Amino acid sequence: MTGKHKKRYSTPFIATASGIIDLFRKQKNTVTLKDDELLIGKNILITGSSSGLGFEAAVQLAGRGANVWMACRSGIPEKGNLVIKLSGNKNVQMIHVDLADMNSIKTLVEELKKLSVTLDVLICNAAVVPSKSRKTKQGIEEMFMVNYLAKYLLIRLILENKLLHMTNGNIPRIIFVSSESHRNPKGYDWDGFGIYKKYSMNKTVELYGYYKLMMTTFANELSRRLNSGSKISCSVFALCPGPVNSNIAREAPVIFKPLLKIIFTIFFRSPRKAVKPILYFACSKEVENSPVDYLFLMSRKKMDAKAMNKENGTKLWQKSEEFLQHHGFVFHQ
Ligand SMILES: NC(=O)c1ccc[n+]([C@@H]2O[C@H](COP(=O)([O-])OP(=O)(O)OC[C@H]3O[C@@H](n4cnc5c(N)ncnc54)[C@H](OP(=O)(O)O)[C@@H]3O)[C@@H](O)[C@H]2O)c1
Repeated sequence: MTGKHKKRYSTPFIATASGIIDLFRKQKNTVTLKDDELLIGKNILITGSSSGLGFEAAVQLAGRGANVWMACRSGIPEKGNLVIKLSGNKNVQMIHVDLADMNSIKTLVEELKKLSVTLDVLICNAAVVPSKSRKTKQGIEEMFMVNYLAKYLLIRLILENKLLHMTNGNIPRIIFVSSESHRNPKGYDWDGFGIYKKYSMNKTVELYGYYKLMMTTFANELSRRLNSGSKISCSVFALCPGPVNSNIAREAPVIFKPLLKIIFTIFFRSPRKAVKPILYFACSKEVENSPVDYLFLMSRKKMDAKAMNKENGTKLWQKSEEFLQHHGFVFHQ
């Protein structure tokens, strides 16, 4: 990555300023979603839908007629009840998951299986921006787990249990909520993969971009593995919503919170506006049969070359698989 690009996301302050500047740039290759592109009766699971973008996606997609499964660690049942109220759709269920806990992810998948749910759309939205490194129950660094590995584990278990609606010509969609900061890292540190390292807030933004790169690389690799040639079995999409006025900065130092609140309120976009690329990928007929795609705001863009690189994708897949094997997860699919 060029030095110029690296600087755009090097500190929390510069990352925030870069995001705001992007909002004022003229967008090219823009897409639009029509109001009549509905998802009546489609099963959609959204992680991290208790807050911010994920909550808004639940409201809007329920409003378009979907059966919405809100996979959350908090807000049960009140956030689900609010989605029902705001969308007017009763087909909204909440299901508990703590994405920092591998066993909780396994339980989520077992519950979906018990309920015979097959998913038309899976939205991997949840993420954390921690003030410092923390260990999960399994001794893994929390941001690595929630922002990347949980997605890999969830999707491998979903595939293993055949919980994606891939029968009768149906092409399910998997949507990753990424960030333009995935372009920031210089490359992969394969030797350090999954190794717990201590860090504090000044390193958080850099690592956040690194885990977004992992997730976006995984999106490409997943698409390559699920789709061969012209035979499309599953669409895999990633997007950056731009700066969103959400709870993402909840762990920012108390001293900066009043200033951040002002910046977020004035310059950041409301979840209602920012959710549009998620809705587009979930509902649009234009991307039917598309193996892989990326949006920044509502502009179609190429993902970073490191994320599209096949060697990186293969290596990441293997490293993740081996890592999870050490934690007792063996996959056959
Ligand atoms: N906000 C921005 O400016 C911005 C910009 C680019 C990309 N994004 C991306 O947008 C996505 C949504 O973020 P947001 O801005 O809407 O932030 P948010 O309001 O903080 O929402 C994050 C969601 O993730 C959930 N979550 C965090 N840790 C979890 C865990 N261990 N298990 C289960 N759920 C967990 C949170 O649950 P709780 O409510 O229980 O904490 C919450 O529902 C993220 O992927 C983020 O990286 C945001």
